[in-house]
Amino acid sequence: MTPLLSIRSLSRVFSNGGGLFRKKRQFRAVTDVSFDLERGEILGVVGESGCGKSTLARLVSRLIEPTGGEILFDGQNIRPLKGRALSRLRRRFQMVFQDPYSSIDPRQSIRSALLEPFDVQGIRMNRAERDAKVSELLAMVSLPAHLADSYQHQLSGGQKQRVGIARALALSPSLVVLDEPTASLDVSIQAQVINLLQDLRDRLDLTYVFISHDLALVQYFCDRILVMYLGRIVEVLPRGATPTHPYTIALLDSAFVPDPHHRRDIPRISGEIPSGYDEPRGCAFAGRCPLVENRCHSQLPHLKSLAGTHAVACHVKGAAQIILETENAV
Ligand SMILES: Nc1ncnc2c1ncn2[C@@H]1O[C@H](COP(=O)(O)OP(=O)(O)OP(=O)(O)O)[C@@H](O)[C@H]1O
Ligand SMILES: [Mg+2]
Repeated sequence: MTPLLSIRSLSRVFSNGGGLFRKKRQFRAVTDVSFDLERGEILGVVGESGCGKSTLARLVSRLIEPTGGEILFDGQNIRPLKGRALSRLRRRFQMVFQDPYSSIDPRQSIRSALLEPFDVQGIRMNRAERDAKVSELLAMVSLPAHLADSYQHQLSGGQKQRVGIARALALSPSLVVLDEPTASLDVSIQAQVINLLQDLRDRLDLTYVFISHDLALVQYFCDRILVMYLGRIVEVLPRGATPTHPYTIALLDSAFVPDPHHRRDIPRISGEIPSGYDEPRGCAFAGRCPLVENRCHSQLPHLKSLAGTHAVACHVKGAAQIILETENAV
């Protein structure tokens, strides 16, 4: 069956500055990213701050234009789509942000926030249909019907995010891109929202791209994880597979905190991340990698398939085994 989404060599370069006396600078936020997304799959995207996760999310949701590559949705190349055709397709993929209210007018009631997607699409409904739709959407995310007349400042963080999810689901999309949807919530509320997302996925046949800083959460929630480093995928990790890239291993090591109430954000790994302005010739992780070899500085490692969908971009053979042996020896 055709994958729901196929991303082929997707790239986004931002051009900054430039003027009479200043040279225009090119920042590579996402470079040569390819992956397929199967229907019903939950694909996690992890990596340190600034590695291009949100840019990838915005590219996939067609909120920004790629500078290279292709996006196939249900087998159809959506890059050339514009105007009405793009707007119609937009119904089928939606995005949920960390703070769903950053883009909503605080003077808007929950009712009008939930009806906005229909109004934007020009879908006409009479008063009774609009009331029924609002009740249905609130019930879908387990919120009481009376919240329709509230305003965002009257809601808790968890309630706001539920409204954000209901809004994203209003037009019955197939794909939902969630950019750190639980990052601003307390851990207990976070778990409730994750349960809700899982339940909605099962009930509504949704497919998710789930971006998070929280590796333990991503490992629990996602079928497959893309690990990004400086705009590129360094490892594609199916559930249960042993991490192989030294960067993924470092991330997972640092993510293990026994206290469940502790925020399991990705801490900084020692060493400097190179700048996206002057991308190194070889592997971008070479400067921080404990297993670095000569060729890592000069040759870019490409993603190579290991087994099934597990793939890694690293020159070092058996990196995982070497790291394990070193740890055991200490
Ligand atoms: N519109 C823009 N113009 C210029 N540079 C941008 C723009 N948007 C993003 N960038 C840069 O691209 C890089 C990737 O940003 P992005 O927001 O995708 O990272 P991220 O992985 O989502 O980070 P975080 O975990 O902090 O949310 C960053 O260095 C950012 O400064
Ligand atoms: Mg981001």
